[in-house]
Amino acid sequence: MTRRIDLPPYPRGWFAVSASTELARSEVQHHHYFGQELVLFRTEDGTAALFDAHCPHLGAHFGHGGRVEGNDLVCPFHGWSFGVDGACRSMPYGKRIPKTAQARRWPLREKYGVILAWHCPKGSEPDWEMPEFDDSNWTACISKRWEIAGHPQEVCENQADYGHFIFVHGTHFPRATAEPMIEGPVLQVDIESDPEAIEEKYRVDGPELVGSNCGHGPGLTFATIVPKDSGLTALQRLYATPIDEERLALLGVVSVGKLDHDDATQQYLDGLSQAVFAQWEADVPLWETKVYRPTPALNDAEGSVAVFRRWYEQFYVDD
Ligand code: FES
Ligand SMILES: [Fe+2]
Repeated sequence: MTRRIDLPPYPRGWFAVSASTELARSEVQHHHYFGQELVLFRTEDGTAALFDAHCPHLGAHFGHGGRVEGNDLVCPFHGWSFGVDGACRSMPYGKRIPKTAQARRWPLREKYGVILAWHCPKGSEPDWEMPEFDDSNWTACISKRWEIAGHPQEVCENQADYGHFIFVHGTHFPRATAEPMIEGPVLQVDIESDPEAIEEKYRVDGPELVGSNCGHGPGLTFATIVPKDSGLTALQRLYATPIDEERLALLGVVSVGKLDHDDATQQYLDGLSQAVFAQWEADVPLWETKVYRPTPALNDAEGSVAVFRRWYEQFYVDD
């Protein structure tokens, strides 16, 4: 049977595993990403850590009854405790900690409201970092999550697919205002609305937009798109993390640059986040049912899709 999306299921890079606000201090959570059982916890001092879910001792699932004590994760089966580096730090009985009592720890970062795990099919350590975004002029983030059928490349490719903006989102056809900026895991394309780029009968009303569409690694697509000459700033991030070979966790995060008055800022943030969430939701039925065309019939206005795909190839490594 032909697979709907015939791409390697798990690219190499950073992927969101939780919004920061979803994980409290001393909380232990059970997750399933990359086809694997995982446990995510936060210590009393606030550090987040991600382990393989099964204890290196006799294989209990940390996510079913495991608890945080101080800054350690304690296994529910025999009470051995593990530090955030995965090493067993104490056992309630016995004199010598076995060298192999080491939980598999995933590289983790917490950046601007999101907890990110590094996944490499070959097990290599991170060799690049995700952007910070932090700026005192930005609001706190509003986030929403979805679970869909799909692949992260298909979600991220959306930013480069200008032809669907009108038909799926009702926004103007865009054009790039500069050559794409590609630096390793980063792709940035500055765009603005170009209403006349499409036949008149398809043109839409609404403000012309300007900003950047960006990819940072295989699991984050983000945009800084705002109405032209509005003076507004906004950051719309969509993180896509494979759950298994068919399913995808999406985490949408919106924040805006603060305005002069708190009320106006809140109103802008609330309105924009609802609008952006609705726009992503409009893409979901397409992502859930489309097939992946490895050699698509692109026309001359769609070079951005080819650029995107060439850039994204770097995230596939041999298993
Ligand atoms: S299985 Fe975890 S301490 Fe024994
Ligand atoms: Fe879209």
